Amino acid sequence: MTTIKIIKSYKDKKIDFIEMKNDALKVVVTNYGCHILSIYMKDKEENWGDVVLGFKDLETYETQDKYIGALVGRFANRIKAGHFSLNGKNYQLAINNGPNHLHGGIDGFNHQVFDYRIENNQVIFTYLSKDKEEGYPGNLTLEVTYALNDQQLDVHYHAVSDQDTLINITNHSYFNLSSEKENILNHDLCVKADKIACIDADGLPTGEIMAVKQTPFDFNQMHRIGECLKQNHLQLQLGNGLDHPFILSDTKDQICLYHALTGRQLTVSTSLPCVQIYTANYLDGGLTGKYGYAYQSRDAVCIETEYLPDGIHLEKEPQCILKKGENYDAYTSYRFEVIK
Ligand code: BGC
Repeated sequence: MTTIKIIKSYKDKKIDFIEMKNDALKVVVTNYGCHILSIYMKDKEENWGDVVLGFKDLETYETQDKYIGALVGRFANRIKAGHFSLNGKNYQLAINNGPNHLHGGIDGFNHQVFDYRIENNQVIFTYLSKDKEEGYPGNLTLEVTYALNDQQLDVHYHAVSDQDTLINITNHSYFNLSSEKENILNHDLCVKADKIACIDADGLPTGEIMAVKQTPFDFNQMHRIGECLKQNHLQLQLGNGLDHPFILSDTKDQICLYHALTGRQLTVSTSLPCVQIYTANYLDGGLTGKYGYAYQSRDAVCIETEYLPDGIHLEKEPQCILKKGENYDAYTSYRFEVIK
């Protein structure tokens, strides 16, 4: 049985912190940018721990620029030079990451206040992203659902636009299954992907697709993240660690993260074709988290399910184009288990 209640309200801002709870999980979310604030689960000794990074107060969510816990859109990841053409029209978006556009711009979905309703075991967030918001064409009606089902948090995205537009939505939670007891170098990762998109020094995909076989990027079998990061590989240097789009070669349970010491395991299934694996390379001690630690590089791993970054320039038939009146439907589920 899942119970859902409001645990904190910022009435003047129409922002709530909402707790979803059952026997296996306690998940705290907010309608401010649909952030996931906390995910509590047990370890193999039955101790509860919070497995995502985050902050105590709303204020830090309003000002942080690392997207910790955020819903990211309209376009997650990068668009080269923030520029694209659609139906013969040119669009210029904000340049907010080196020479490129990142994560929907200056005031992306992570900074928007959503309406929401609670229905049974789910919180349904809705938002109208107006035509030209952050430079994107079309009024986009968005619905994001967080549902708690036993050991699983199911996230569903639905959107429809009144003009052709771009879309690429993800969740930017920073996972640490040790519950901030150590960084993620001792976490094991499995990603069902035979290829990655190579990136340049700005993190933008170059168009080169690399087979992972016999490279540090082969996570088809469970592999220690720390072992991967020790390797000498140009792509790891360019990303300052893992910060790459993996092109998924399976359709279910494509990503798995495991922490042997606590027995905690997270399995991710998605309908989306790629996942950006990001080892928090740009956390630099500048943000202090909810348990008093100044977050550092490698303190977490992000599992950002999405379309190919910069697909509008790189794909012959870009998957990220949402045609007027058509439905964008995508899901990602996060299953939390303890392996004893
Ligand atoms: C990007 C990183 C970026 C981070 C922002 C990730 O999705 O790939 O390069 O620094 O988000 O927090």
